[in-house]
Amino acid sequence: MKKKFTLKNIGLALLVVFIVMQAFRIEKSNPNTDPANDFIIINQPSVEVVTILKGACYDCHSNNVTYPWYTNIAPFSWWIKDHVNDGRDELNFSEWKTYSLRRMDKKMKEAVEMVDEDEMPMYSYTIMHKNATLTKEQKALLLAFFSSLRTGESDKAKE
Ligand code: HEC
Repeated sequence: MKKKFTLKNIGLALLVVFIVMQAFRIEKSNPNTDPANDFIIINQPSVEVVTILKGACYDCHSNNVTYPWYTNIAPFSWWIKDHVNDGRDELNFSEWKTYSLRRMDKKMKEAVEMVDEDEMPMYSYTIMHKNATLTKEQKALLLAFFSSLRTGESDKAKE
């Protein structure tokens, strides 16, 4: 019998691919961390700033990530996990204490730029987490707090 590339066959093939994809699940356990290393514990921001950090940054930049139901669905799950991995690599608030003074300062400098230019929190995140969209006031609070932690260490020339 001759095989035909009918729409129905293509649809079935895609369905099979989609089902097979679901077998490749992402790792959702959060790494163990010492709470004493956490950015919030160390720097003691105001309650408002804590709320912003936890609601708009910690899902990608900490070891304390919550994964909503749609993170069970491949390929979205892979894409979201990539954001968490890349986000943690760039800046992990849960490991703040392990950073050098220079790295801390550099991260605060970048954080000011990212928030000021509305690049963080990521747009794809705020679509799904409406509360993570920062109001003008929240943005100002966050910027002021990050700026207050700058030491200028990362601007110094390397010896
Ligand atoms: C959906 C996940 C996600 C959220 C939420 C998020 N980030 Fe990010 N962030 C990333 C990823 C991924 C990168 C690395 C790739 C990039 O720069 O786009 C990154 C990079 C960064 C960097 C380094 C940028 C540079 O110059 O290299 C800073 C600083 C940062 N984020 C701060 C924040 C702050 C502050 C918040 C909260 C207001 C936040 N992010 C929210 C995913 C996220």
